[in-house]
Amino acid sequence: MKVCVFGASGYLGTSVYQLLKDTDDIEVIGTYLKGPIINDELYKLDVNNPESFSDFFKRESPDVVVWSVMSGQNEDKLINEGLLHLITHLTPKTKLIYISTDFVFADGKGPYKEDDPMSKLPDDHLYSNYANAKVKAERLINKELSNYAILRAGPIYGENKIGKLDDRTDKLSYYLRLEKPIAFRDDLIRTFVRIEDLATVIVELVQNDVKGVFHAGPNESQSYYQFMSTMAEQLGYNPHLVEKGSEEEEADFEVPKNTSLKTEKITEITKQEFK
Ligand SMILES: NC(=O)c1ccc[n+]([C@@H]2O[C@H](COP(=O)([O-])OP(=O)(O)OC[C@H]3O[C@@H](n4cnc5c(N)ncnc54)[C@H](OP(=O)(O)O)[C@@H]3O)[C@@H](O)[C@H]2O)c1
Repeated sequence: MKVCVFGASGYLGTSVYQLLKDTDDIEVIGTYLKGPIINDELYKLDVNNPESFSDFFKRESPDVVVWSVMSGQNEDKLINEGLLHLITHLTPKTKLIYISTDFVFADGKGPYKEDDPMSKLPDDHLYSNYANAKVKAERLINKELSNYAILRAGPIYGENKIGKLDDRTDKLSYYLRLEKPIAFRDDLIRTFVRIEDLATVIVELVQNDVKGVFHAGPNESQSYYQFMSTMAEQLGYNPHLVEKGSEEEEADFEVPKNTSLKTEKITEITKQEFK
């Protein structure tokens, strides 16, 4: 089986690519855009470029595609161009595993089940480009394809397969190492998911023929403050340096409060246990 990981140089994509490489009977190819990359087997590709995308896809012709691409403020372009190119090239035989986010529930009244309606942020919101593009992507996939798994995740944390930490834990460690206090909000509730667990379940979805929308992560949700306090302790730092952040914010830029995910479905259909 041939698997293509788009975004194989990214935080999550790196782990997925490495795990697939270590899996029997799987041939894996991965793409990057700007790098830097430590793995010179990766193929440089801008998914938004129609000609190079088409050349690449026709040449490689994968059986499964993992979409682990992210472009933050340009996410909309990534969906309108890159994802659309992919959808145009996919045949019903090729499975798409699309990594989505808890931010598709922008009204922030979780916990959410897989079939709860998605909601968007106002267009002028700081995170609207990313969050709304993810909603659009999911709707597009659902409308145009049948052979897919959409995997929604909350904040991903931990060391990936090349020892890179997520940005939040990295920042936490930086402050605590200097014995400086750092504040996180106690009113933003999320389902934090370990990168190792997420990457492993993606590999399982590559190998089985399970289709649909799934929420990844453990059963419990936590606030950023709770999560980071525990993380500080686990990393051997003084947890009291983690403080509660201000909950004041401008109404127009309100961050979705509770985007936590109900995750029973994925634990029923896969072997994965989420810590
Ligand atoms: N990180 C989280 O906490 C989190 C939470 C929920 C969901 N997710 C989802 O998980 C997936 C992976 O996120 P991540 O944190 O691993 O992101 P990341 O570290 O920012 O990686 C993004 C990847 O996308 C590639 N890329 C960006 N624009 C591209 C383009 N035009 N053409 C080709 N490749 C392009 C980047 O390549 P270069 O780096 O080489 O430029 C990189 O490999 C995304 O779908 C994201 O929405 C992430």
